[in-house]
Amino acid sequence: MKILTVIGARPQIIKASAISRAIKKYYNQQINEVIVHTGQHYDANMSSVFFDELEIPHPNYNLNVGSGMHGEQTAKMIQGIEAIILSESPNYLLVYGDTNSTLAGAIAASKLHIPVVHIEAGLRSYNKLMPEEINRILTDHCSTYLFPPTASGLNNLLKEGFNDSNTKPYSMDHPLVKNMGDVMLDNTLYFSQLAEQKSDIINTLDLKNQPFVLCTIHRNDNTDNEFKLKEIIQALINIADKYAIKIVLPIHPRTKKMIVNLDQQLLEKFTNNPLIKILEPVSFFDMMMLEKYSNFIITDSGGVQKEAFFFQKPSVILRKETEWVEIVDAQMAFLTDANCQEIIDAATLILEGKIKNNVVEIFGDGNAAKNILNLLLQ
Ligand code: UD1
Ligand code: UDP
Repeated sequence: MKILTVIGARPQIIKASAISRAIKKYYNQQINEVIVHTGQHYDANMSSVFFDELEIPHPNYNLNVGSGMHGEQTAKMIQGIEAIILSESPNYLLVYGDTNSTLAGAIAASKLHIPVVHIEAGLRSYNKLMPEEINRILTDHCSTYLFPPTASGLNNLLKEGFNDSNTKPYSMDHPLVKNMGDVMLDNTLYFSQLAEQKSDIINTLDLKNQPFVLCTIHRNDNTDNEFKLKEIIQALINIADKYAIKIVLPIHPRTKKMIVNLDQQLLEKFTNNPLIKILEPVSFFDMMMLEKYSNFIITDSGGVQKEAFFFQKPSVILRKETEWVEIVDAQMAFLTDANCQEIIDAATLILEGKIKNNVVEIFGDGNAAKNILNLLLQ
């Protein structure tokens, strides 16, 4: 069985390691995985670092598409993936999540009648102003195998008319829809011990036994809107100063590019604050250690929201809605949008110990990748 895996953005490279690992461990004789990197992310610390660290086979193809407008970027990807499908003739094309690389893979394969496997199907923010929402909906509706990672993801698909009792043979018009759990949980469970041994970031940043907040920001709705970015930055300054707590921010290249346009006075207050540590994007092992040892996490990332939950850390989500509704329902996360006061209020609740740790099973049992492959082999 040949699977053509399409990845491109940082979180997809990380997610892909779960499937590649399961192939190597359980199905080496039966499955041949061919990896296509679209080149959507290309800086070493957004891409190659993960292949090295997470032992993902290096891509068989790199389309080197790079950054650009949505249409331009997606079109180049479709063109490149189409040619590879024609020469490789895979049995399946596998995509993750909701980026432009996901959509490009799904369009190229579905039009050539290659069954699309969508890992992280069914997630919805119900906000079509997000490019990711468009990518997810379109990908789901031309996939043959839809694997939502959560019960709400499955439910969203049922509401859109998908049927989870379809039986073989599957097709785009008669797809398999099944909650398989989350491959990101597989990764956190598998790598967190190893990260303890390999990562030195807690010592390097002098964070041992020190309270600190981990923060990531990259959602275009936050970075490309000056008002919202200002609100977030002001909230971070206020939290650091009010609680004398360190804030560690591995900065996404999109945010790094936009932050310099901020009001000069605010920018200086932020970058010169001794409690605020801005880093280049970190490796996955370093990120896991920062998540594990932080007091709580402020983020607009989908993946980081989940990892916060895996490490039982409360999070403040810099969005007005989330696809990971179960975490909010479990009261382990607060939706604050980019509202300075709401971010501070949520941080206050957490720092003053006013929330309890609610441990519930949302994302499966850590065997999602193996179970997905097993299903495809059947
Ligand atoms: C993309 C995904 C988003 C995902 C995020 C993960 C889409 C529409 N968005 O957003 O869903 O959450 O990846 O990180 O697919 N850049 C660099 N170096 C890089 C990559 C990007 O400098 O290696 C800069 C470029 O200026 C680029 C900008 O970041 O224009 C945005 O990159 P892009 O891939 O378009 O979107 P992300 O914001 O990364
Ligand atoms: N991540 C990382 N280094 C960083 C920031 C994030 O390894 O400096 C990892 C993080 O642990 C998670 C994934 O990248 O596994 C999330 O990616 P991102 O936030 O870019 O995208 P999203 O999940 O929002 O699509």
